[in-house]
Amino acid sequence: IPTMDDIDIRSKKVLLRIDINSPVDENGKIIDDSRIKAHIGTIKELVDKGNSVVLISHQGRPGDKDFISLEEHAKLISKYLDREVVFVEDVIGPYAREMIKKLENNGILLLDNIRLISEELIEAPPQQHVKTFLVRKLAPLFDVYVNDAFATSHRSQPSIVGFPLALPSAAGRVMEREVSALARIFNAEDTPKIFTLGGGKVHDTIRIIENLVRKRIADRILTGGLVAELFSVAKGINLNPKNMEILEKLGILSLIPRARKLLLSGAPIEIPVDYKVEINGNVMEEPASKVTGVIKDIGSTTAEIYSSFIKDAKVVVLRGPMGVIEDERFKSGSKSVLKASLEGQGYVIIGGGHMISALDKDMKIDSSKVHISTGGGALLLFLSGERLPALEALSMSVVNSSD
Ligand code: 3PG
Repeated sequence: IPTMDDIDIRSKKVLLRIDINSPVDENGKIIDDSRIKAHIGTIKELVDKGNSVVLISHQGRPGDKDFISLEEHAKLISKYLDREVVFVEDVIGPYAREMIKKLENNGILLLDNIRLISEELIEAPPQQHVKTFLVRKLAPLFDVYVNDAFATSHRSQPSIVGFPLALPSAAGRVMEREVSALARIFNAEDTPKIFTLGGGKVHDTIRIIENLVRKRIADRILTGGLVAELFSVAKGINLNPKNMEILEKLGILSLIPRARKLLLSGAPIEIPVDYKVEINGNVMEEPASKVTGVIKDIGSTTAEIYSSFIKDAKVVVLRGPMGVIEDERFKSGSKSVLKASLEGQGYVIIGGGHMISALDKDMKIDSSKVHISTGGGALLLFLSGERLPALEALSMSVVNSSD
C-alpha cells in the first residue's frame, strides 16, 4: 500500500480520515482519548510539511448513546497538537465546503461526525462508494486523501474506500505502523507464535481461532476468560451448573460443536488446568476437573504453564484478559501473562490498551518490542488473515494505477 513517503504531500490540501471514535460517559464526555493521541503524529507531520489538513472521523453509530458531535474531540486534538483546530459543525453542506475552500496552508479543520451522512453507514465496494454524495461533494476540494483510521479499516464505507478511487491516496503513519507491526504474525520465520486469547467476546474469538488453525498461523493458542470455559466444556470437563448457567445465558453453549471440532482436529489449543473461583465471597483455587465455585480467573498453575510457553515465543499476541480484571482479586492471571510477554524475547502485540491500563497504568512499555493496536474489530479481522477493505482500496488508489 502507498504510504505518505510514496506520494508528493507538500503544500497540498489533504483530507485525512482518522478514527477518534472514543468511549464516552453518560453525559457524552470522552473517558479515554488514546485514539485521539495516536493520530497526533500524522497530523503534525502533514501540517509541518505546509499542508492544510481537513480531518474526518466517525463517533458511535446513529441511535446509540455515543453517537455525538466531534466538538470535544476538536478541543483535545488542538490541546495535544498545541495548534488551533477549527471544528466545523457540518460535513458536506455549503458551510463545510466553504470552510474547506477558505482553509490556508498549515490550517486544520475537523468536520463533524461523518456518520451524520447516512451513506457512511452503507457497506459497499469502492466502485460504488466513489459515486456517493459524500465523495463527490468533498473529493474535488482536495489534492490528496490520507487514511490513518486503522481501527475502521474493516469497514467498506465511503470515507474509507470511496476516496482512494477519487484522489491520490496514501496510508497515514498509524495505519502504516499497525500494518507493519501486525504483519509479523504472518512471518514464517518468527516461530513459535503464541496467541493468548481471553475475554468475553467468545463468538468473535472462536472465528479467529478457526482461521488461525485453518491457516496454521498459531503454534499455540492459550485460552482464558470465557473462551477457556467454552473449550473446557467442549473437552468434556464438568464446570458445575453455576458456570454452565452463565455460559448458557450468554449463548456460548451453542458454540460447543465448533469448539469440539477444533479440539478433535488436533488444533494446538491449551485450556486451564486450574481456575481461580469465587465461593460465597471467598477466593479459592480449584483444579479444572473439580470446580465448585464461579470461575473468575485462571489458576496459578495455569498462569505458570502459560508464562513458560510465552517466554519462549518469537511472537506473542494478547487479546482479552484471562479473568475478571475489573475486580482486583482476579487480575493475577492476566498480570502473569502480560509480565511473561514483556519479559520474554518475543515481539508482543496487544489488542487494545484497555488491558494494560486496567492492570498497571505505570507499566513500562518498550515500543521497539511491543505494539499496542488501536484496532478492535479491525484487529480481529487482520489477525484472522482476512483482507481489510481499507487496504484493498488504498492499493487501488489513483496514484497506484497511474504508476
Ligand atoms: C471501532 O471502535 O472498532 C471502530 O471505530 C469501528 O466502529 P464501528 O464498529 O462502529 O464501525
